[in-house]
Amino acid sequence: MTTSAALESFLAELERLRGDAASSLAAASDAGAVEQARIEFVGARSGRLKAVQKLLGGIAPADKPEAGRRFNEIKAAIAELFAAAQDRTAAAAADTAGGPLDVTLPGAAVPLGHLHPITQTIRRVQEIMGRLGFESVDGPEVEDPWHNFEALAIAPEHPARDPLDNFYLAVARTAEPLLLRSQTSTVQIRVMESRRPPLRIVSLGRVYRPDTADATHYPMFHQVEGLLVEPGTTMAHLKSVLRLFASSFLGGDVRVRFRPSFFPFTEPSVEVDMEWGGRWVEMGGAGMVDPAVLKAVGYDPATVSGFAFGLGVERIAARRHGVDDIRDFYRNDVRFLRQF
Ligand code: PHE
Repeated sequence: MTTSAALESFLAELERLRGDAASSLAAASDAGAVEQARIEFVGARSGRLKAVQKLLGGIAPADKPEAGRRFNEIKAAIAELFAAAQDRTAAAAADTAGGPLDVTLPGAAVPLGHLHPITQTIRRVQEIMGRLGFESVDGPEVEDPWHNFEALAIAPEHPARDPLDNFYLAVARTAEPLLLRSQTSTVQIRVMESRRPPLRIVSLGRVYRPDTADATHYPMFHQVEGLLVEPGTTMAHLKSVLRLFASSFLGGDVRVRFRPSFFPFTEPSVEVDMEWGGRWVEMGGAGMVDPAVLKAVGYDPATVSGFAFGLGVERIAARRHGVDDIRDFYRNDVRFLRQF
């Protein structure tokens, strides 16, 4: 059986169609170009495959099975070429989804933590006192009785030394009983022992007393200790410095009041109250450094005098931020802490 001319040209047409489709798809670099080729080659109404299919009508009946088989083969091959081209362009599109990386774009904000309100207060006090010429110094939290009591003229029988009022550390019976310092006045002594006047220092740190926790007490709290020793220092200097500090820390409308009091290591001694927002609050103690203390550290009370003050950090922080209960500072509730 000889192949008719009509079949010959039909098969040639099919072959050309496959070749053209292959090269069109090879050149198509994106989904749009693949779609264009799809319409051109296999479009339902005017695609080239459809046109070739119509030629089947002119094939002699004897050649029809052969022509139909080849047509289906080429149709399937072209469909495969399209499927592969669609996969390829879709993968390329996914790779560049969102466009190329722009390294100059601003970063997304990641909320960071911040300093604890007590730490913020400590830094602020250091900064204000620094502007008044007071250098920040540190001292140990575990102290000996000399620095916590004796050098501060707190006699052995003084009730402030009572084991019920202090955290003494359990040590061998023969050793000197160390304790967690109950006040930062220890640092006054340490600084005066190691330096000569003139002195202007401020020391902020933890102190410990076995108090029951309530709205204004906590067994661990922080104090600001200030000390100035220079020839000619008077109570007027003490008042001025505390007033300047209070108005810098709380604002110009703060009022400061001094009430006569007693501390073994200052003479005269005062209690310091501050009024802000309509309420007076006791902030700490102060006074002129007792000449006996100056002598104990080797200074000459006839040529230098000084003042000292000690304020509660939690109290001034609570006052400034309107916190009613200092225990809130230590509950570690982030809803509270985030407000500062
Ligand atoms: N250290 C005293 C206290 O803790 C406060 C104070 C400091 C008083 C300095 C006078 C001078 O109560």
